[in-house]
Amino acid sequence: MVINVNASKNYDIEIGRNLLQSIGANISAIKNKCNVCIISDDIVYPLYGEIVLKSLKDASYNVCVFTFNHGEKSKNLNTFMEIQEYLASQNFKRGDLIVALGGGVVGDLAGFVASTYMRGIDFVQVPTTLLAMIDSSVGGKTAVDLPNGKNLVGSFYQPIKVIIDLKTLDTLPCTEYKNGMGEGIKYAMLMDGELESLVTNGVTCSTNVDKFVELCIRYKKYIVEEDEKESNLRRLLNLGHTFAHAIEKLSNYTIPHGIAVAQGLKIISDISLKQGKMAQVAYDKVQVLLDRYDMHIDEEYSINDMLEVIKLDKKAEGDCVNAVVPYAFGDCRIEKLRIEDLKN
Ligand code: NAD
Ligand code: GLY
Repeated sequence: MVINVNASKNYDIEIGRNLLQSIGANISAIKNKCNVCIISDDIVYPLYGEIVLKSLKDASYNVCVFTFNHGEKSKNLNTFMEIQEYLASQNFKRGDLIVALGGGVVGDLAGFVASTYMRGIDFVQVPTTLLAMIDSSVGGKTAVDLPNGKNLVGSFYQPIKVIIDLKTLDTLPCTEYKNGMGEGIKYAMLMDGELESLVTNGVTCSTNVDKFVELCIRYKKYIVEEDEKESNLRRLLNLGHTFAHAIEKLSNYTIPHGIAVAQGLKIISDISLKQGKMAQVAYDKVQVLLDRYDMHIDEEYSINDMLEVIKLDKKAEGDCVNAVVPYAFGDCRIEKLRIEDLKN
């Protein structure tokens, strides 16, 4: 299946199984022979790197590889600089290409490198986690973290193609699957309808996953085409993220993004219920989904600690924070919440 995104770049998202084997031929339809750097992490590359490397070489690309230690702790300016220097050492020029093979960490980092190396070279997203397939590989947000907070340095920079091989989910650990479902519950709350039913009925690696990925991507395509640079509508995709980013940082990134998003959904639903905005019935539905996908964590962080981090967030403005407040499934609104009120 192919879904086209018509943003500042027009590109196709290809979804299927066993697509890695033909990735070289696939890319050669849109990119002439050039240098290609596969950027990946030390877990994903041993699993899928050779297949991608061979396919690209068979399609006559000149291929090199850069891998880094897996995990959020690598999504920083040090790794960013190492990759930039590696590209320069390999004599990469403006017409060359990056292939980001991995989860959201690889995609965000490689995308940011692509957006800045020689003022921008092409890149292809090849997401291998559920989270990256339904969210981070689509829409062109690229970033690295600073010690002060998540995604504080980055750019909007669209890939020239996204290739989603659902077969790579076969090796994804259950914990990472669950991580993806954190963002999945977010989409269900934003979108309601078919996606909400699907998520309520259950999405597992063997049930409903193809349809789930497709529906999430179709929704994200709609948002990105309307508001690529997040001046308004795209902010909806930050549902749950205000608290999620704080939780990730406070846990020193031991709590993964999607799980943190699920906690953020719970907190913002609590706030919305207490403020009389969210109806009890919708609130209960959120709890059912969080239970169904076992989104509970042992750690607890105080609201004051979270708010200290939130004040540094991109979404903070003076004594207010821009948050997405759920009123019902399919009715989430962007509102300014006073930090003082949140404390209460
Ligand atoms: P990740 O990239 O760290 O991947 C999670 C783990 O799974 C890693 O250890 C990785 O090595 C491993 N892995 C990946 N694919 C695998 C496979 N097929 N089989 C076995 N292991 C595999 O994390 P993630 O959850 O994919 O992404 C989280 C990141 O995405 C965060 O940094 C978050 O901020 C970012 N994000 C960005 C956007 C965006 O729009 N750009 C949206 C959501 C999240
Ligand atoms: N993941 C949020 C966005 O892409 O806008």
